[in-house]
Amino acid sequence: MQKRTWNTDTVNKVSDMVVVKGWVHARRDMGKIIFIDLRDKTGLLQVVFAPKEVGGAYEFAKTLRAEYVVEIKGTVQKRTEKTINPKLETGTVEVLATDLKILNESKTPPFELDKDTRAVNEEVRLKYRYLDLRSERMHNNLALRDKVISFFRNYMHEHGFIEIETPILIKGTPEGAREFIVPSRLHGGKFYVLPQSPQQFKQLCMVAGFERYFQIARCFRDEDQRGDRQPEFTQLDFEMSFVEREDILKYTEEMFIEMVATVAPEKKLSHTPFPRLTYVEAMEKYGTDKPDLRKNKNDPNELAFCWVLDFPMFEKLEDGTIQAMHHPFCDVHPADLEKLDSDPMSVRANAYDLVLNGYELSSGSIRIHKRELQNKIFHLLGLADDEIEKKFGHMLEAFEYGAPPHGGFAPGIDRIVMLLAGEPNIREVMAYPKTGDARDPMMGAPSGLPPKALKEAHVKVVE
Ligand code: AMO
Repeated sequence: MQKRTWNTDTVNKVSDMVVVKGWVHARRDMGKIIFIDLRDKTGLLQVVFAPKEVGGAYEFAKTLRAEYVVEIKGTVQKRTEKTINPKLETGTVEVLATDLKILNESKTPPFELDKDTRAVNEEVRLKYRYLDLRSERMHNNLALRDKVISFFRNYMHEHGFIEIETPILIKGTPEGAREFIVPSRLHGGKFYVLPQSPQQFKQLCMVAGFERYFQIARCFRDEDQRGDRQPEFTQLDFEMSFVEREDILKYTEEMFIEMVATVAPEKKLSHTPFPRLTYVEAMEKYGTDKPDLRKNKNDPNELAFCWVLDFPMFEKLEDGTIQAMHHPFCDVHPADLEKLDSDPMSVRANAYDLVLNGYELSSGSIRIHKRELQNKIFHLLGLADDEIEKKFGHMLEAFEYGAPPHGGFAPGIDRIVMLLAGEPNIREVMAYPKTGDARDPMMGAPSGLPPKALKEAHVKVVE
């Protein structure tokens, strides 16, 4: 059998006999000739069926419908000057078909795939996500996501980090959101929870002496959805030992500047180095800790990064209780250590955010690495000794075995790709996202379970 040729490779094969495969993107009948736009993963290619070229193929081509899967044999020919299509990568050539094989038929899709699908009802788009993803924009978005992730992976490796996978079935970790829980079959009445982030594990990797850890990490949070929030999402999670805040800011800033230049060279950065604001300055000047510093908000290619530093360590909730503003593992700002007893609410954390065009892209901090201080923070958060021991005994214990000073950061991949792609929400840059109310209309998740499965998991559903 002849080897398949990718659509975009046909431009280098003028006069060759080729076999191309893909989907019928569009069919145009022009009297004596039938044209189809054949789509494969590389792009579109015009195929011509003319009655005088072949016996059967021309008649057969009349039965082709949009999204049929086909295999076509034919000769690549140069298009005439007048028929060149500058919009197509293959616009200088076409394939004159001699054989046509239909590999599979297709029902008429519920929406048009050769147009931007953004206007289509989202429930329908997500129910037929595999069709939605056939559209050019969605293909491009996922290709961009792949480029961003592989850039980060390479960059991290080049700078001495290793990727370490951390578990998904864990015990709760306090990062402010509600957790998804997973009942244990082997331990009736006990539960795992899914990680809100690998926070504790990455810190324990520092105790383990890896010094530079990263992970393209899936995180899970059972919180209300927004355009920039999904119940599962991906972080470029990283952690470094023997560093101070400045080291992490510098490393991250250089990485982001190079990332933009590499994967999205058409974008312009409004300010380099990235401006730095304290939390107090940001709130006073912009009324938000996520200021949008773009000069021209109508320019789709402008990227305005900025740093927000020195977040408060604690915040008071409506019920009067105190909560860690970021998470309880953040180190105290060195200048505020003295005030921890006398005026804890004025204490700043050694924590920082990276903001892009008004979105929080990433949060991080230098961490506590000593048992005594970590214990004190838990006390200030209102935790009793037995509760601390039960929830965080493993962290406190680990700090007693030579935990190095360390700190890290966790840029959200979905938000980065959304902003680079100029999309209005992160669902447009995720292959299989959930709806606004956290459902997957395609799989039908979440769903009930048969009584046997519930019984095995020791779960009783309360009506
Ligand atoms: P934080 O909770 O701030 O920090 O999360 C870091 C980044 O992750 C992204 N993000 C989300 N993206 C999509 N949907 C969500 N529901 C969602 N929640 C967060 C954002 C955010 O800035 N462990 C710490 C990091 C650290 O201290 O190193 C953490 O997870 O881009």
